[in-house]
Amino acid sequence: MRIRRGHGHDHRRNAFTGGRALRYNTTAAGGMRWLYRGLAQDIVGALPHGARVLDVGTGPGVLLAELARSRPDVELVGVDLSPDMAALAAWHLAPYGHRARALVGDVAALPLSGRSVDIVVSSLSMHHWADLDSAVTELARVLRPGGAVRIYDVWRAPFGKLVAAAGAQAVFAGRAPHRKRIRVGWLPLPVLTRLVLTP
Ligand SMILES: C[S@@+](CC[C@H](N)C(=O)[O-])C[C@H]1O[C@@H](n2cnc3c(N)ncnc32)[C@H](O)[C@@H]1O
Repeated sequence: MRIRRGHGHDHRRNAFTGGRALRYNTTAAGGMRWLYRGLAQDIVGALPHGARVLDVGTGPGVLLAELARSRPDVELVGVDLSPDMAALAAWHLAPYGHRARALVGDVAALPLSGRSVDIVVSSLSMHHWADLDSAVTELARVLRPGGAVRIYDVWRAPFGKLVAAAGAQAVFAGRAPHRKRIRVGWLPLPVLTRLVLTP
């Protein structure tokens, strides 16, 4: 894995490159690991046996590594706009062999075939997405029938805009979106929000 250090700010595309990606990785895989364990606990119950899971904006892939560890039956794919983050995710997922991989890609143009994923998850990424209309269209395209999207983000993330985009694009029209503030790990307050979208 080769990641060049540097200030890591590319405001045209994505800020999570270079030294910033490396520092994020250190925090996510170290002191913040409890957060990903908590999120994985919230997700595993929703995974059908043998499910294929996509994590959008996977960053260093720590959430996927937690899911891989607790659910040996599932196949995992992480996608991230930043090649440096995708490289870090590939490194964290290497112990899980062919059932876990990381790809470079944009939520607005996912590098996956249609109807190829059972559950989409995303943590702390949605508030960075530049094109919510294309994002919801792509999420709906890759989901298999009966699947679901679970988005976890800070409560101030644009959940309302994402739901409005789904309405405007006429996707996820089956069941009403379910949005809830949740507590994760030892946090005393529900600082994260979980949004579940179903086709
Ligand atoms: C704050 S990090 C979160 C990473 C990881 N999900 C976590 O919970 O630690 C946000 C990530 O979203 C990625 N990202 C931002 N916009 C994206 C887009 N349009 N498509 C895919 N990934 C994106 C960034 O490159 C970054 O790795």
